[in-house]
Amino acid sequence: MCGIIGIIGTNPVAPLLLKGLERLEYRGYDSAGIATLDNGRIGRRRAEGKLFNLADLIAREPIVGTVGIGHTRWATHGRPTEANAHPHASDRVAVVHNGIIENFRDLRAELVRGGHIFETETDTEVVVHLITEHLNQQMSPREAVAEAVARLEGAFALAIIFAGRHDLMIGARRGSPLAIGYGDGEMYLGSDALALAPFTNRICYLEEGDWVELGQDAATVHDASGAVVTRDIKQTALSGAIIGKGQYRHFMQKEIFEQPAVIGDTLHALVDPLRRRVELPDFPFDLSAAPRLTISACGTSFYAGMVAKYWFEQIARQPVEIDIASEFRYREAPLPEGGINLFISQSGETIDTLAALRYAREQGQKILSIVNVLESAIARESDVVLPTLAGPEIGVASTKAFTTQLTVLACLTIAMARARDAVSAETEAALCTALTEVPACVAEILNHDTAIRKIAHFLAEARDVLYLGRGSTYPIALEGALKLKEISYIHAEGCAAGEMKHGPIALIDETFPVVVCAPSGPLFEKTASNIAEVAARGGSVVLISDKEGIGKMGDYAEHTIELPPIDPFVAPILYAIPVQLLAYHTAVIKGTEVDQPRNLAKSVTVE
Ligand code: F6R
Repeated sequence: MCGIIGIIGTNPVAPLLLKGLERLEYRGYDSAGIATLDNGRIGRRRAEGKLFNLADLIAREPIVGTVGIGHTRWATHGRPTEANAHPHASDRVAVVHNGIIENFRDLRAELVRGGHIFETETDTEVVVHLITEHLNQQMSPREAVAEAVARLEGAFALAIIFAGRHDLMIGARRGSPLAIGYGDGEMYLGSDALALAPFTNRICYLEEGDWVELGQDAATVHDASGAVVTRDIKQTALSGAIIGKGQYRHFMQKEIFEQPAVIGDTLHALVDPLRRRVELPDFPFDLSAAPRLTISACGTSFYAGMVAKYWFEQIARQPVEIDIASEFRYREAPLPEGGINLFISQSGETIDTLAALRYAREQGQKILSIVNVLESAIARESDVVLPTLAGPEIGVASTKAFTTQLTVLACLTIAMARARDAVSAETEAALCTALTEVPACVAEILNHDTAIRKIAHFLAEARDVLYLGRGSTYPIALEGALKLKEISYIHAEGCAAGEMKHGPIALIDETFPVVVCAPSGPLFEKTASNIAEVAARGGSVVLISDKEGIGKMGDYAEHTIELPPIDPFVAPILYAIPVQLLAYHTAVIKGTEVDQPRNLAKSVTVE
């Protein structure tokens, strides 16, 4: 996972590396480090934990140099200690790495037999020893890197500097993303354009197997065969400005409260409010003709896909299959000719989702993606991209990305339903009207923040929490449980309300809160029975419903959260808001690190 950055120029590089790393911390915050060339010699500063520890260290023990590399780590191999922090180095070379070297054990054993002494538990250190070995055999840096990289199996993006070579930095990628930034007398390498945005908006993404030699003014890109190739340089619209929390205590809180605006922006791009019609960009394939729509995603994005499965099947009458991306390609499911594969990702860099996309591409599927980061690998490798206009999401727990994904998926459902002749113009108009009311309804729900905070005190006492939902709000129960566990560390499970009696009901006792998402409508009565079953066993129900639902079942609940009456179509978008707020306030009460929960990272770029 990890974020990497490299800068070769004429300005003091340490503060610039820290600035770039600030924007990469979403990729991991187990440790951070930089290496620079100080009069030709490699110097390093590394610190355990978050970036501010490294910044403090550098303030106490400054490091000079105009060429350097930096890293923020999400630990895979080796504990999150200073010794395991990147950059890893010998006296000849320093390396930062994102990815996993899968054959590192064999390489390490071979190198140890050859007399190399290892200082860390990481997979990355083998790269340092391999390159050093080749440099000691009088190879040039370029030859040494080529030989070393040829031995590596797995995924990597590497940035490498060499003792005595102020004029050279080498980058290489296979499986993990790496971008070149073109500056004015200064060149950059970075895991993504976001890290490079404070320095330049001229970005070139390396392709699979590429490697690059950087000087202060130029970059020479080679493909996997070693041939010099030209890759497009693009202008990125990403802002270099640091994104602040404004009046909010946490990014997650700010992002929850941004939802009326960003859902509105996303709708604005896709719905014509006057004609009450969805207007999608042109597709290079026919939306009506796919025998099957196959959806893959991870985590919260997967739950957005689960909601959409209900929509596509019920409204567009489109057969859908959905799987978590980390399982999808290993199933080797037969994919029908002419099938459309839909990938959903906030970051657009989740490696499991990207690998599933590549598998679908190999199977001749049409590739459609919904992403928030348009510069991402998933966006670049798709036939069509429908962007979520959520803006940068900094809190590790996804909130506004989720509801904007649902918004795009709802619009896609309507467009597909129209293309498949599954809805009349009147039905389309009614669905569009329901969608255009969502931002105002979300704003209204956010007004319940104080009441929801009080209920969070109740959840904060619990050891386990069960979330129930039925139909298209079942995935919201799963999402509510995921949100709670990832930021408050309380164990939580989401369950289809009808499935509870097949096992989970055994867990219910007086200590066990059950959060039920139950909009009134055709499925309400069935869920009402499940609420009664929980109450009969002493469980404490938190009922999220509308006036009608609370009127019917409020007496069975310890706490209620009343949402506005809405069209059942948009219920999943609206019911996501109270479960986000419940998780947020519970985490704040428990005093956890809400924006950067332990062991997690915003962008999951390892399998
Ligand atoms: C949970 C969360 C994760 C992500 C998952 C996929 O709050 O944020 O479960 O949804 O890691 O990430 P993306 O959407 O970037 O592919």
